[in-house]
Amino acid sequence: MTLDDEAIRTRIDGLLAEMTPEEKAGQLTQFFFFTLPPEAEDNPALGLEVAAQPRAVEAALARGGVGSLLFVTDPAQINRLQRAAVEGSRHGIPALFGFDVVHGLRTVLPVPIAMAASWDPALIEAGQAVAAAEARAVGIHWAFAPMVDIARDPRWGRIVEGAGEDPFLGSAVAAAQVRGFQGERIGAPGRIVAGPKHFAGYGYALGGRDYDEVSLGDADLWNVVLPPFKAAIDAGAGTVMTAYMALNGIPATGNRWLLTDVLREALGFDGFTVSDANATRNLTTHGFAPDLRSAASRALDAGLDMEMAITDPAFDHLPAALEAGEIDETQLDTAVRRVLEVKLRLGLFDDPYVDEDRARVVLADPAHREVAREAARRAAVLLRNEGGLLPLDAADLGSVAVLGPLADSARDTIGPWVFDFELAETVTVLDGIRDRLGDAVRVDSARGIPVGRRTFPSMFDMFGGNAPEDPEGFEPEAEFTRAIRLATDADVAVVVLGEWQNMIGEAASRSSLDLPGRQLELLQAVVATGTPTVLVVMNGRPLDLRWAAAHVPAVLDVWYPGSQGGAAVADLLFGDAVPGGKLPFTWPRSVGQVPIVYSNLTSHEPENLGRRYWDEASTPLFPFGHGLSYARFSYADLAVDTDTVALDGVVTVTATVRNESNHDGDEVVQLYLHQRTGTASRPVRELKGFERVMVAAGEERRVSFRVGPDERRYWNAGVRGYVLDPSVFDVWVGTDSTAPLGTTFTVTP
Ligand code: BGC
Repeated sequence: MTLDDEAIRTRIDGLLAEMTPEEKAGQLTQFFFFTLPPEAEDNPALGLEVAAQPRAVEAALARGGVGSLLFVTDPAQINRLQRAAVEGSRHGIPALFGFDVVHGLRTVLPVPIAMAASWDPALIEAGQAVAAAEARAVGIHWAFAPMVDIARDPRWGRIVEGAGEDPFLGSAVAAAQVRGFQGERIGAPGRIVAGPKHFAGYGYALGGRDYDEVSLGDADLWNVVLPPFKAAIDAGAGTVMTAYMALNGIPATGNRWLLTDVLREALGFDGFTVSDANATRNLTTHGFAPDLRSAASRALDAGLDMEMAITDPAFDHLPAALEAGEIDETQLDTAVRRVLEVKLRLGLFDDPYVDEDRARVVLADPAHREVAREAARRAAVLLRNEGGLLPLDAADLGSVAVLGPLADSARDTIGPWVFDFELAETVTVLDGIRDRLGDAVRVDSARGIPVGRRTFPSMFDMFGGNAPEDPEGFEPEAEFTRAIRLATDADVAVVVLGEWQNMIGEAASRSSLDLPGRQLELLQAVVATGTPTVLVVMNGRPLDLRWAAAHVPAVLDVWYPGSQGGAAVADLLFGDAVPGGKLPFTWPRSVGQVPIVYSNLTSHEPENLGRRYWDEASTPLFPFGHGLSYARFSYADLAVDTDTVALDGVVTVTATVRNESNHDGDEVVQLYLHQRTGTASRPVRELKGFERVMVAAGEERRVSFRVGPDERRYWNAGVRGYVLDPSVFDVWVGTDSTAPLGTTFTVTP
C-alpha cells in the first residue's frame, strides 16, 4: 500500500506525539552490525572490539535505540534483527537496513568507474536495478551509493567508486544510478533507496590521501563537485551521506552552510542525511566539538539527520543536549520526521520482514548474470590496437598463454566493495578464454609473479576472503621462467596485469601509479619473446602504462569487470563483442602530472611553447573520452541550425559519424563546448553532450545535440552566482576530448 503525503504526515504526527527524546534519538541512530569471520581480529584502527560490537547493538535494539542497521546481508539475520527492532520499540517502528550496494550484491557488476566508462546511462540504470532487486530480496532497503564524488587525482583510491573527472558525465551517471536503485519512487517494488555520497568535495583530498583535508574553491565546488549531487537529487535520491573530511576547514558533518544552505536550499534536497561511519563522533577528533554531546548537537543543528556509528554513538547524547537547551524539540522532530517518512514510503510498517526462500531465487536469477556480462562488455576500453591485433581469430590459433597475477584471480576480477561474494561463481579471464576456446585450442596459464597480497594490508581484510596467499612452495623465479616459456611457445600471449583489488578503494591511496610488483618486468619479458601480446588491464585508476603504450600492440582496459568479467573479456578478445567504452578520466603519463584534466582553463601563454613542465609533456597518455573500436569511425558535416542565438536560445548541433570498417560497432559521439570570452575565463573544452550509438559496418548516423542555456550557464566566482555570458562559442563533435571537427555559434546579449 502506498500512503499519500497527508496520511504520512498524520501517521508521523501521531508517532512523534508519543515518542520520548530517547526514542527519537534512537530513530536517528544507525549501527553497524558486524558478522565477522572467526579469524577476524579486534581492529584498533576502527575502535572495534569484534565480539563486543554485536552485543552492544543487540542491547540498543532491545531498548528501541536503533533506527537503522548496516552491514547485514543474510535474510534470516535481517529478519531476526528486524523483529528485535519492532519489538524493542514501543511503537513497533521497523529498522531501515542499509548496505554498501556499490556494484551489485551477489551478481557483481563492473566497478562504478567501469560502468561510467560505458557512457551508457540505460545500462547503468539496468545494472543498479539488478543490484537493487538482489538487495531488496535479502531485506536491504537502502544503498550507500552512488558515490558521486568527482575525482581528479588518481592517487585517491576511491576514484574507483565514482564516475571520474567530469561533472557532465558524472551527472548523467549519478542520475542513472539513482533511477536504477529507486525506480519511479521510494517504495517501488524490488527497489531500494539511493544514497548519493559523500557530501561534499571528498574527491579533492589533498595529495590524493584518503580522508585528508579538502580546500576547494567556489568555482570548482559549484561547477564541478555539486552538479552530480544535484542530478542525483533531481532524480529523487532519498538520502545523502555527509563526507568525513573538513571542507575549507569546516568538518562536512558539522557544516551548517553545506548541509542546510547548500544541500537543502540551493540543491532542493528534501530527504534525510546520514553521516559517514563515525563521522559525527569524529567531530571531536577534528578539534571541532569538545565532547560527544556538543558533536551531536552541532551536527543536528547543521542539518544532519542520522548518525552512522560503529559503537557508542554521539547521538546517544541528544536527549541531554535537548535538556541543556543546545538543541530544541523541533530540530529533533524534523530529523525524525524525515527518517520516518522514508520508512513509511517504503511500506516497512506494514511489511517489515523478508521472504527468505524468495531471496534465494532472486539471487540465483540468470538474467542478472547476463546484465553483468553485458555491462562488462560495454565498459571495457580499448586503449590501443596497433596493426589490428584484436580481435583474435580463434580459428587461426593453436595455443594461447594466459599470464599474469590477475589472469585467474576471482577475488580481483570482482573488485573492491563487495562482501557477499561467491568466488566459485566468478568467471576469471582464464575461465572465460578456456570456455570460449573449448578443446580446439591449447590454453596454458601462469601467474608469473607472486601475489604477495598481504604486503598491501587493507582495512577490508577483516571481512575475510580478501587476502589469499601464494600457494605453498611457490617459487617466484621458477614461476617467472615458466610464464616466459609458455609465452614463447604460444601463438598469442594474453597478459592480465593491474592492481590487486585491495590496492584501491577506501583507505587505499597510492603515491605511485606504477604496476605493482614485478608486473612490468613480466610484461617486458613476454613482449621480448616476439609472441604477439595483448595486455588486459584490471584497474580502477589510470596506471603508468607508458612502456605498454609504446611497445604492446593491443591494450584492453577491462577494469574490475565483475562476476561475469572473464566471459565478457573473452567475448571482446575474440570479436563476439566489440569494445565501445571511453575513458571517464584523463590518463596521465606519470604520477607527476596529476591532477591533470582536459577541461583546464585557458590562461596566460596557453601553450607555453607546448609545455607546462620542462621534463614532461603537458599532454596525457590518453585523453579523456578516448577509446578505440574494432570498427573505424570518421566524422563529417558538423552543422549548427543557427549561427546566432539570444542568451536563452538553443542551438542544435548535428554531425555525421560514419563507420568506415567491416565491423559493426558502437561509438560514443561526444560534444565539447568552449566559451571564448565573458565575465570569467572558461575551460578550453567542456563535455556538454554525448550519445553512444551503434553504427553498422559501412553505414552512417546523424547525431544531434541541444546546446541551450543549461549547457552554457556556469557559476561565477566574481558575482558569486550563476551567469550566462554572451560570447562566441566553439563547439566540437568527435570521438574524444581532442576532437578536431569544430564550428562556432554566437550568443548575443
Ligand atoms: C565509507 C562510506 C561507506 C561507509 C559504510 C565508510 O567508511 O566512507 O562510503 O558507505 O563506510 O560502509
